[in-house]
Amino acid sequence: MGIRRGNCNRCPAANGGNRGLGLDSGGGRAILCPVTAPITALRPRAMLLTVDTVSKTYPGGRPVLRGASITLDRGQSLALTGESGSGKSTLLNLTGALDGFDSGEITLDGVALSQLDDAGRAALRRDRVALVFQQFNLIPALSVAQNLAFQARLAGRLDRGWIDEITARLGLTELTGRYPEQLSGGQQQRVAIGRAMAGRPKLLLADEPTGNLDETAAGTVLDLMLELVRDSGTALLLVTHSQAIAARLDRRAHLTGGRVAA
Ligand SMILES: Nc1ncnc2c1ncn2[C@@H]1O[C@H](COP(=O)(O)OP(=O)(O)O)[C@@H](O)[C@H]1O
Ligand SMILES: [Mg+2]
Repeated sequence: MGIRRGNCNRCPAANGGNRGLGLDSGGGRAILCPVTAPITALRPRAMLLTVDTVSKTYPGGRPVLRGASITLDRGQSLALTGESGSGKSTLLNLTGALDGFDSGEITLDGVALSQLDDAGRAALRRDRVALVFQQFNLIPALSVAQNLAFQARLAGRLDRGWIDEITARLGLTELTGRYPEQLSGGQQQRVAIGRAMAGRPKLLLADEPTGNLDETAAGTVLDLMLELVRDSGTALLLVTHSQAIAARLDRRAHLTGGRVAA
């Protein structure tokens, strides 16, 4: 049971200083003082991600999102399903600050995305989120090892020990000297996931990450990705067509008519 809030008998105004904890002036029970407690102790812990009634229409098009809302807690995984064209990729791209929205708000790790300029959006993508797409988007001229380190190096957060661990966990240790064209699709996507995770993002956004893979490779990639995000405390928002994949995540949400049904 948490400590309850109430008026305490030890406010700084009254006695010069007990921060946060006080005693109930009636029964003498411990309480959290609303005046002196650190604000974080009083407020419910903020969600990592809040998409709040977001709307989006592409220029010249029909509305794609019409008040879509989702929340995602730290370390949680959420599967976003919906028919082709329902706006799943759009919602994912807005969350990753790749595109702007018309109304509503997206708050990621305490940052309101509507308030960011281009530099702010770039900083958010560098420091807090990472994306994995259906296409692997590896850099052809770089080796596996160089691809894995690429984003973390750009962000100034290259941690060799962590990259070595990711490389091993994704089963890429024997492949670090190869180039993308020398890899299978499943291997390429494992590199893309490793590259995304190398900077220790708070949120991984994955848009049908196994959509280009055969069933066996898809299963391996999904297992490795889920294990890696879970053990890293990284939250995951994953777009998928597959109910079987969606069932493996902590929560599910369905996008239809521009809105999200949980
Ligand atoms: N950059 C864009 N410009 C104009 N229309 C777009 C753009 N991206 C997506 N759309 C349109 O928005 C709708 C939703 O697309 P999308 O978010 O890709 O859906 P999903 O990922 O669920 O298949 C579609 O009608 C698509 O044609
Ligand atoms: Mg899509």
